[in-house]
Amino acid sequence: MPNNNLHITGHTRIVGVIGAPVEHSRSPQMHNAAFAKAQLNYVYLPFHVRPGEVARALEGFKAINVVGINVTLPHKQAVIPFLTSLSREAQLIGAVNTLSFGEGQIHGDNTDAPGFLQALREFKGEVSSESRQHAGRDSSFPEGEDVVVLGAGGSARAVVVALTLAGVASIVIANRTVSKAIALAEEMSKKTGVTMHGMGLADSQLPATVSQSALLVNTTSASMESSQPLLISADWLQPRTMVYDIVYTPPITPLMQAASSVGCQTLGGIQMLVHQGAIAFEKWTGVTPCTEVMRQALSL
Ligand code: ATR
Repeated sequence: MPNNNLHITGHTRIVGVIGAPVEHSRSPQMHNAAFAKAQLNYVYLPFHVRPGEVARALEGFKAINVVGINVTLPHKQAVIPFLTSLSREAQLIGAVNTLSFGEGQIHGDNTDAPGFLQALREFKGEVSSESRQHAGRDSSFPEGEDVVVLGAGGSARAVVVALTLAGVASIVIANRTVSKAIALAEEMSKKTGVTMHGMGLADSQLPATVSQSALLVNTTSASMESSQPLLISADWLQPRTMVYDIVYTPPITPLMQAASSVGCQTLGGIQMLVHQGAIAFEKWTGVTPCTEVMRQALSL
């Protein structure tokens, strides 16, 4: 896709993303479109940084006065020892996706957790403005609710932290590998004080737990393929359960389709992707970006 933002001058400020690989990243198009819209003289570049080269890359960014860097796989944990400070979310998640540079210091954040919540609240806000009688309940959602999270990997960690920050009542983590679900639930409940329980996907209590939950979040890549069976049965879902699938390709996953067919509200992962980027953009520039432009630039 052509980049219409290339008015590079001596004043142009540099941000970007490190990863290996980094070629698949949609962040450059998303951020550069938002810089153009906001008329900010910034450019967002992809940097392929090999494992083992993180420390040298960060020193280089400091030396050339880079403003901010997003961090993607496999460096989200590897950057942590080189940071001057770390946000509470990043500490709890144990992973960093956004770095901010200044005066020889590097601050690490994780914008996946607030991006997840921002997308959810935006969705609920839109729903409640359409149906006013639900506005009171929706404005604080998912505070005080019982939630089920599918998966226990890196994305699940960010989602679980976001849910604890939102004040949910309880979280059940259900995962293919039971031991990972139990370990994550024990770790996070100890750190946050929120009631959590880990179980396997075949656990006999999972159907009733899903039926009683207000929110079900899928964090696994298993929902991307229509050829794969769903991790849960649509029969377990009640219309009052909202289904949030943080996968963004395809935009409407087989799980979302199944949930819609039984009357559940559904939300996909595109707006979480947009908002985690928008929060980073704002940290770097002090300007709130146009999220509609960011979303369009993703071409999803
Ligand atoms: P991410 O950072 O995207 O969370 P990850 O840390 O590799 O990636 O975690 C992937 C998650 O998706 C895990 O919970 C994984 O289950 P296991 O812990 O049992 O591996 C889950 N997952 C991936 N493919 C799956 C599948 N086909 N069926 C069920 N769970 C799957």
